[in-house]
Amino acid sequence: MKIDKMHGLISLFPTLIYRDPALIGNYDLVQTEVKNCLLKIEEEKDYSEVSWIHEEARILRDKKREEGSEHSYFIKDDLIGKYNLIELKKRIFEAVERYVTVTQWGRIYSDPKFNDINNGKYKIKLRNSWMNIQSKGKSHEWHCHPGYTIAGVYYMRVDADKGGIQFQNPNPIMQWCHFPEGPRSSQSIEFIPNPGDIILFPAWLMHNTVNNKSDEDRISVAFNIDLIVAPKLDDPGNGIQDFENKGVNELLQ
Ligand SMILES: [Fe+2]
Repeated sequence: MKIDKMHGLISLFPTLIYRDPALIGNYDLVQTEVKNCLLKIEEEKDYSEVSWIHEEARILRDKKREEGSEHSYFIKDDLIGKYNLIELKKRIFEAVERYVTVTQWGRIYSDPKFNDINNGKYKIKLRNSWMNIQSKGKSHEWHCHPGYTIAGVYYMRVDADKGGIQFQNPNPIMQWCHFPEGPRSSQSIEFIPNPGDIILFPAWLMHNTVNNKSDEDRISVAFNIDLIVAPKLDDPGNGIQDFENKGVNELLQ
């Protein structure tokens, strides 16, 4: 790509983040499903698919680590599978389709030789998912999601008081202290999502959540997505099938 007409200050290389708002047709369905899931988790006190930022989930995870039953950084959480959140899964897949379309991300996964199935299109694989219950005074430190293509969050209960999600500027110029902060060059940007929104971003992008100042818990569902080439059915040796139709727990066996 060449630029020959622009002059003055030119902003190059944006980071492509996608905010997918709920539609009238799916807002209630998904919100109800996630609310019921939260109620079940709280009733049964089963925090196995809840992020460690929740106190009881952290205690459970520390205990598992001490016992040696959970010692890897591989994320095994499968909230969506365990609670059969079909409306949320549908909503996530639709949002990812839109993100991949507007960014043209799918082009690197679409290979004409795979045309015999799925029209040579990439496939979306939901690798894991978990619930974030962020109570008053809690925040989530800077991190990224290594090993995955796209990271995403569905927001069930959020507002400015409960804290948005902050993204860190990945441009190295901002980390080297030789460039001033400004509207076009901030260290980080906070997004305040609306309930029902999905935010999708490259999994390598550093992000955190800010302190929840409200008395109510901030509730979201986070997940990781991989895009893969649709595998050829008659070619079991290409390695891709190892992941086909398998949940994260099966992959670990
Ligand atoms: Fe995250």
